[in-house]
Parts: sequence; C-alpha cells; structure tokens
Amino acid sequence: MQDQIRILKQQALNDLQQVDNTESLPGWFRDYLGKKGAVTALLKQLGTVAAEERPQVGKAINDLKTELQDSFDSLQERLRQQKMEKEIASDSIDVTLPGRPFPTGHLHLTTQTLRKIYQIFAEMGFQVYEAPDVETDAYNFQALNIPEYHPARDMWDTFWVNKEVVLRTHTSPGQIRAMKEFGPEPIRVILPGKCYRYEQITPRSEHQFYQVEGLVLGHKIRMTDLIGVMNEFARKMYGSERKTRIRGSYFPFTEPSIEIDMDCILCAGEGCRVCKYTSWLEVAGAGMVHPVVLKNGGYDPDVWSGFAFGMGVERPAMLKHGIRDIRYFYGNNLQFLQQF
Ligand code: DAH
Repeated sequence: MQDQIRILKQQALNDLQQVDNTESLPGWFRDYLGKKGAVTALLKQLGTVAAEERPQVGKAINDLKTELQDSFDSLQERLRQQKMEKEIASDSIDVTLPGRPFPTGHLHLTTQTLRKIYQIFAEMGFQVYEAPDVETDAYNFQALNIPEYHPARDMWDTFWVNKEVVLRTHTSPGQIRAMKEFGPEPIRVILPGKCYRYEQITPRSEHQFYQVEGLVLGHKIRMTDLIGVMNEFARKMYGSERKTRIRGSYFPFTEPSIEIDMDCILCAGEGCRVCKYTSWLEVAGAGMVHPVVLKNGGYDPDVWSGFAFGMGVERPAMLKHGIRDIRYFYGNNLQFLQQF
C-alpha cells in the first residue's frame, strides 16, 4: 500500500507539472482529488489494510492528499497570475479615446434671457435690484397711484393672500422699494423677478412669469432718454438693425404712458404670423414716472423726474426661438430645456 501511495504521488506530481494553463486544472483535480479520483479510491481501500497498519497508511494517504492539494493550489494561483499578466500586456488602452460625457445641467432659458438683459443694461449703468415676490397691497397698487376700488386694478388679476397681502402682479412695486432705499438720489436700476396673476393658463399666458422693470430718476430726465435706452436695448438684444416706435398708452404710475414696439425680429417688417402681420412686436410698457409715485417714493416731483418701463421675459424668448407654448417654461421637460 505504501508503494502504491508513493507511485501515485509521483504520478500525480508529474501530471501536475504538465499542466500549463488554467483550463487543464479541473481535469487534473478530477483525476486525483475529485470524488472519483485516485486518492479517494485509495482511501476507500483503507478497509482492506491490516488493522495494525491502518493508522499509518491512513495518515500517509491524508498527507498525500494535503500535499497534492497544496501543490494544486499554488499552481492554480501561479497560472491565474500569469493569465492576468498576459491579458494586461496584450490589452492596450487607447488614451486618446474621448471620455464618457458627464451629464451636466445648464441654465434655464429664462435665466439665460435674464442674464442677457442684465448685461445689456449693465453696460448702460443700470444695477440689478431685487424686490420681494410677496407684496402688500400698499406697494403693489396704492403707492403706484392705484387706489382701492380704482378701475385700473382690473388690469391685474390678483392672487390675494389676505386683504393686505398679494403675490405681486408686476415688478413695479420694486420701484417704490428702490426709491425708499436709495433716495432721494439719482437712480438707475432694473428690477427683475417673477410675477403672478390669477389667470387661466393657456399656451399664451401662465399664472407665473418674469418681468424686468426699469427705473431711472434724476434731474431733467426726459422721454427721449427713455426712447434712447429702449432703442439701445432692442438693438443689443435683437440685432443692430432693429427699429423702434412708440404708441400712447395708459398706466396709473406713469404720465405720459407709452408702449414701445420694435420691428418684427422674424420678418423685419414684411409681416408674418409672429407679428400677426402688423410688422411690430411689443417690447415694453413705459412712461415718465407719475408725480404721485415720485412723492410716494420720497422724491420731490418739482426737483426730480424720471422714466420707468416694464417688459416680459418669456414672451420675447418665445418669439426668438419659435416656442409656441409658454407652459414649457414651467413644465420641467428636459427634452424642451436641453434645446437651449
Ligand atoms: N407694470 C406694468 C404691467 O405689468 C408694466 C409697466 C408699464 C411697467 C409701464 C412700468 C411702466 O414701469 O412704466 O403691466
């Protein structure tokens, strides 16, 4: 029996030496250490060995088993290592391949439009002044020369928080806040921000939207200054060839009040669907600040004069990009947002 063990050992180790790849390992294992392998077969014969020799023979078989297992393990480890090294060596990495793009966000179209507007007015010396979205009736209406029960209130369908508090219907109340903060000194500010109106939501009107208000106060500020500023704005925003025109209008907080139009950015005056065949697009409501408003802001109307304007933000962006539905601005639809 001892001879048999010695021969088997020799044979097993010889065979193992021939194994030179990981694929051949299981075959060797099955032949020697597997359930039906030669070592297992030896163990099964142990019963036939004389009782006094049995412990020694048993130990010898177990030793053989351990030794073969150890040899097998270390060969397996070595072959795996070799295989990996070979793979690494043959696997070339193309370092010039572009990386996977990381999905980053970008500014919302409204924010992009707002920043363009800030930039243009900054070049004309305007600073940005922010006023609250939640306003009082006093600021949103009364200080702007719109008394309680005045029919002009019908121009602004209002979300009332309570009898005194509203969601601002326009950015104009910021005029009063800016005047109180900076006055009575010359002022040149734009007041951007969200406005709210209790309106039916349709492709053309949302109950929330942005406006940019402008306010310039000083000595001997005239309507022509207003027209010059709006001209400059239209040309910087929509192209140097833009023309503007003014029409008479009405706002309680300006006197006189005007509406500023520019020639259509799409058809340049030929007439198209965007300008509804009028050749003109509205840019802003504007006018000379009403004496009552000046007084309410702490400015003496006999000493100070100025102009104000208010313009939408989404509507011009819609015209420019051919967006047919204002609700897209608030829909959080990435397919829409990623286009801009
Ligand atoms: N606040 C007005 C609106 O929302 C727009 C406006 C018109 C603002 C004339 C002005 C202005 O500052 O002078 O309808």
